Amino acid sequence: DTGGYEHYLLKEISEQPETITRTMSGRLDERFHVAHLGGLNMDARETRSFRRVKIIGCGSAYYSGQIGAQLIEELARIPSDAEPASEFRYRNPVVDPDTLYVAISQSGETYDTLAAVQELKRKGGRVIGIVNAVGSAIAREVDGGIYLHAGPEVSVASTKAFTSTTVAFALLALHLGRVRDLSPADGRRIVEGLRRLPGHVEEILAQSDKIAELAQKYADHAGMMFVGRVRGYPVAREGAQKLKEISYVHAEAYPASELKHGPLALIGPEMPTVAIVPDDELLDKNLTTLGEIRARGGRVLMVGHREPGPKLADDAIVIPKNEIELDPILLTIPLQLLAYHAAVALGRDVDKPRNLAKSVTVE
Ligand code: BG6
Repeated sequence: DTGGYEHYLLKEISEQPETITRTMSGRLDERFHVAHLGGLNMDARETRSFRRVKIIGCGSAYYSGQIGAQLIEELARIPSDAEPASEFRYRNPVVDPDTLYVAISQSGETYDTLAAVQELKRKGGRVIGIVNAVGSAIAREVDGGIYLHAGPEVSVASTKAFTSTTVAFALLALHLGRVRDLSPADGRRIVEGLRRLPGHVEEILAQSDKIAELAQKYADHAGMMFVGRVRGYPVAREGAQKLKEISYVHAEAYPASELKHGPLALIGPEMPTVAIVPDDELLDKNLTTLGEIRARGGRVLMVGHREPGPKLADDAIVIPKNEIELDPILLTIPLQLLAYHAAVALGRDVDKPRNLAKSVTVE
């Protein structure tokens, strides 16, 4: 039941204020500014013991893992990275006893992710899951984890599970950080930022009609470029993925700094760019990139925290400012709406795109 929405996808995008709230529910501690994650089954000493974090998942789960790796590095200062689960399992990974492995899966049934978890366990790795489907195969296999509590996700393209996963990573990063050197003041800043997220998501959803107009304008191209720097880069990748999956418009995602090392050759009036430009320490660098794209005749749709002015961008989607580390969670949402409205404008089968399955349970 789409609950009065035209598609499951729009329903699931619109549910995000509640689903994000459910992921945080009962887990935020206002006294010590920590996150309670009892499902991890880990005491403080063990929580302190990890020297690296390795995150694995497929598709959007992998991109949410990239956001997660950055959150853990920023808040807990533990070297972290994400990798597609399929690549990981086939390259005979070195399994290190001082690494915390994190498997991401909405369905908990994706075969590549499950097989990677089984390989890790076989080699004695410590694996936790960030999973939506309770009691699923991956949830049963891991040593502990964080359930998203986002409710069933029906549309093939992941939206609410993606944002809930990034919120779960913020909780995990806070948890790992506060048993190390993250200060109570920074802990409080993150807890308060997390509490503001649902209201901020509402403010973005209220721009859906405006984003629909932009989607009409931009979907009318053979391809689109998505760029971002550091926190904005996984957001760009997820934005490109969403557009490809449901609208079949070709989309590339690059770190903005890589443009001049190759893909700038693609830029021109026929290839518009969606630029992820949060108000962070990289703002000036990103604004320079916008100027470079415009100088080549490229059209720019900027997603960020301020109006860039007509010299730097043709259009902008301005979203509320939260804490810098949490920006990626909110920056993702306009891109979900952009892909959704582009797919509708192009008459696509929004909830069941061609050639894709919600959960790939085979090799
Ligand atoms: C793909 C889906 O097949 O699997 C994606 O089309 C999803 O939307 C990916 O992100 C991973 O799925 P899961 O259930 O493991 O998160």
